[in-house]
Amino acid sequence: MDYFNYLDGQLFAENVPVERIAAEFGTPCYVYSRATFERHYKAYDNALGDHPHLICYAVKANSNIAVLNVLAKLGSGFDIVSIGELERVLAAGGEPSKVVFSGVGKQAHEMRRALEVGVHCFNVESEAELYRLNDVAAEMGLIAPISLRVNPDVDAGTHPYISTGLKENKFGIDIQRAPDVYALAKGLKNLAIKGVDCHIGSQLTEVRPFLDALDRVLVLVDSLKEKGIELNHLDLGGGLGVRYNQETPPEPSEYASEIIAKLKGRTLTLIMEPGRSIAANAGIMLTRVEFLKCTEHRDFAVIDGAMNDLLRPALYSAWQDIIPAVPRATGEKRHYDLVGPVCETGDFLGKDRELILEAGDLLAVRSAGAYGFAMSSNYNSRNRPAEVMVDGDNVHLIRRRETIADQIALEKIIAE
Ligand code: LLP
Repeated sequence: MDYFNYLDGQLFAENVPVERIAAEFGTPCYVYSRATFERHYKAYDNALGDHPHLICYAVKANSNIAVLNVLAKLGSGFDIVSIGELERVLAAGGEPSKVVFSGVGKQAHEMRRALEVGVHCFNVESEAELYRLNDVAAEMGLIAPISLRVNPDVDAGTHPYISTGLKENKFGIDIQRAPDVYALAKGLKNLAIKGVDCHIGSQLTEVRPFLDALDRVLVLVDSLKEKGIELNHLDLGGGLGVRYNQETPPEPSEYASEIIAKLKGRTLTLIMEPGRSIAANAGIMLTRVEFLKCTEHRDFAVIDGAMNDLLRPALYSAWQDIIPAVPRATGEKRHYDLVGPVCETGDFLGKDRELILEAGDLLAVRSAGAYGFAMSSNYNSRNRPAEVMVDGDNVHLIRRRETIADQIALEKIIAE
């Protein structure tokens, strides 16, 4: 459920017609709905109810500080994977004590900063990382809170690029080896074992693989307890899918309550790291048709949005719905490939979409709130789009469109 709906023949973001946003801020432009972010966060929070829990929104999905601030105000924690993400959380007013630090390649300076501000936990992914973290904490005279990210070897049944819980993936520690690695961690003086963590993939459309992973992790939790290692929390990662097309993923509330049911009778705090299921349908990307180019073989609509603005279609052949801001009642329906101005054949946002179009028409790419702007680039020296947040009747510019001056500001011509 989101707040991008048609009213009187035109598309609105909450109470604001998107045509008005495009007229004011230009295109391409990301438009977010505060109410949708809040609804999605609360769906998790309410479903987890009285069970001790911490929802750590995965910053990588959409890291604009206004988005982080909206979530922080609801009490959200954050899952980060770099010091850049940590600084964003701090700038947005997030609490460091609700931050979990994930990722396979944490550098010493990143560990130092995270220890300095006091993050909730480091999700450690290898023995080498355990040693490094122990050394950094020792230098600072601190104890680092840790959990091990284990790889439960379940097939998430999702795109191979975003499946992370299989043995052949680079992520986590093989669950079979985990007891030995916990024993090693226990012997390192500047580490404190707090929990266990796993993340099996992204855009999962069923609860089953999560429950399978949870079962395996709970076996580990119990076996550690027998060895005298008692954990305080279990972090199940993110990964719940959203509806882009015909998928029918469970609602966050349904997913969360099934997980909680399995934890009945245990005192383990549950941590979750949802990204997409909070952000994807809280955003759209507006783009305008520049030209129609109808050839013998295909009909193209050349739009002003491109793969540098929204990479998912080019990178994963991802399908995202593309709808007109003001649907035309008359005109010729054609099957368009919606292509951008970037010089790559892979530069498309949608293929074979049946639409009635004229040059100048405004389109909205739906479900663009997650892994949209966050994965954008300046490829072809294009300025990255503006981002705006709609809140009821109000529209806030939360990131201005880049300028060419921004792009070259960090560069320098060599003297001769
Ligand atoms: N926690 C960890 C450790 C992760 O690696 C991820 C996502 C998440 C949480 C959040 O997962 P989510 O709830 O968003 O599925 N760029 C890809 C998605 C990559 C996901 C990477 N990890 C896409 O556009 O589909």
